[in-house]
Amino acid sequence: MVELSKDDADLYERARAVAARAYAPYSGFAVGAALRAADGTIFSAVNVENASYGLTSCAERNALFAAVSAGSRHLEAIAIHADAESVPPCGACRQVLSELAPEMRVIWRRAGVPVVSALADLLPERFVL
Ligand code: THU
Repeated sequence: MVELSKDDADLYERARAVAARAYAPYSGFAVGAALRAADGTIFSAVNVENASYGLTSCAERNALFAAVSAGSRHLEAIAIHADAESVPPCGACRQVLSELAPEMRVIWRRAGVPVVSALADLLPERFVL
């Protein structure tokens, strides 16, 4: 298993810290995401659920939207944390992340420890127009 760089390990700790702010009264599954741009800026976000369940927005997408809204499109890595054994990003988030940052790294929790994957390995053959 590849050891995380200090930057990636720090990013993962940011995702872990922000997860406490999740609004997840329906699932009880609090997720934090921290996204690092090329200039070092970190955008962190949480999942935000809704009584109309399908309107729920995942932490990863919220982090991406915050970065784009701040004018940041050069995105290097995203880390995701939830208090569960394994927390890979969902398929919808993989597609949305790949729109702007197909070459980014994803730091995610697998079997209780953070690991790093290329987004392209998590989502081969992404949909493009
Ligand atoms: N969730 C995320 O925030 N990110 C993921 O990659 C998977 C799922 C959220 C959505 C919902 O609020 C809760 O986790 C349970 O699915």
